[in-house]
Amino acid sequence: MSSRDADEGMPTPSAAAQQHSARLAEVIRTEIEGAGGNIPFRRYMELALYAPGLGYYAAAGSDQLTEAADFITAPTVSPLFARCLARQCAEVLAELGGGDVFEPGAGSGVLAAEILAELDRLAALPGRYRILEPSPALQQAQYETIRQRVPALTDRVEWLQAWPEPFEGVVIANELLDALPVEGFRIGERGPEQRCTVVNDSGFADSWRPAPGELAQSIARVEADLGRPLPHGYVSEIQTAYGGWFDGLAGSVQRGAVLLVDYGYVRSEYYLPERHMGTLVCTRAHRAHDDPYDWPGLDDITAFVDFTAVTEAATAAGFELEGFTPQAQFLFATGLESVAESALASEDDRERMLASQAIKRLTLPGEMGEKFNVIGFSKGLDHTLTGFSQRDLSRRL
Ligand SMILES: C[S@@+](CC[C@H](N)C(=O)[O-])C[C@H]1O[C@@H](n2cnc3c(N)ncnc32)[C@H](O)[C@@H]1O
Repeated sequence: MSSRDADEGMPTPSAAAQQHSARLAEVIRTEIEGAGGNIPFRRYMELALYAPGLGYYAAAGSDQLTEAADFITAPTVSPLFARCLARQCAEVLAELGGGDVFEPGAGSGVLAAEILAELDRLAALPGRYRILEPSPALQQAQYETIRQRVPALTDRVEWLQAWPEPFEGVVIANELLDALPVEGFRIGERGPEQRCTVVNDSGFADSWRPAPGELAQSIARVEADLGRPLPHGYVSEIQTAYGGWFDGLAGSVQRGAVLLVDYGYVRSEYYLPERHMGTLVCTRAHRAHDDPYDWPGLDDITAFVDFTAVTEAATAAGFELEGFTPQAQFLFATGLESVAESALASEDDRERMLASQAIKRLTLPGEMGEKFNVIGFSKGLDHTLTGFSQRDLSRRL
């Protein structure tokens, strides 16, 4: 399929957005040519999302990229989401006798602002709220959001350039793991192949080469765990970056909890035979499509998360699994009903309606309630986390 075939039914990007995409495409083309004609798809995804000043997230917030508002995530649906997470934070901070909150990949900054606001109401503010965000444009957006929503707490927020120095506290990341570049692979006639990106007449296209050692071993480990080989022709994704990510995090977290919210599956569901075309999802102008080469820099590219792989990487790095539960059950367990009570009882029709719509969106199985899961890890905590008390699906991991 040529790249632009995916555009059928999609709005055409503005002239400025097209020029922006062309500049990024040139950067990617130069790298492919310098690499001898192809780069791993993982590297293409990294450039398409994070190339300085040009990638989808790196440029998010700049004027020509209004489509960047594509990532409507739970924190942007309603502050109720952040308020429930804040209650879980407060519980951990109380056990630790204080500490920091660390949020890698803070997007628009709404989650940070609303968690701080709720922790303030609960008289449970962290010493510092630290954000690690690779996109300077998003760092700026986060600063503005926090300054507008919680001006008196802005001083507590720090932006980091690398993992924080060792601290005690809570790590929160919403939809971060799905935005990390993934390896693509295919089971070819002579064994596993790595998805690579080449230049063609219409832009970029896939090419496949024998999987290098580390990728081949990762695929073999998945097959061993599934207890069956993946069939010939099977295409999917595999996350080889989790190990390094959790090792980095483990160097920072001395004691505390890690809460990760994302969409994905446990491994046995991730690699089901019917999911033979993989899990990659591209989004532009709020429409999902499957061509990552469509308009580089204008499309979000994500892959579903293998929560079994997350657990393996986290526990290998020294964390303990605390629980794994659908988002809906996590929110109910951390007090969604009581948090929403005043909005639902409001005299203001609009406030009541918005709260009720938000609850449905965050918790209904067909909406975010079961598509998203919360996975929790801990280090050095004695008490179990309330968020996993209603329904814990850890045994399925
Ligand atoms: C899908 S967005 C989610 C944003 C936000 N958490 C939310 O829920 O709205 C992914 C975020 O992760 C950031 N990000 C990507 N790779 C990262 C990394 N290695 N460390 C920290 N943040 C990262 C992106 O720039 C972006 O802010």
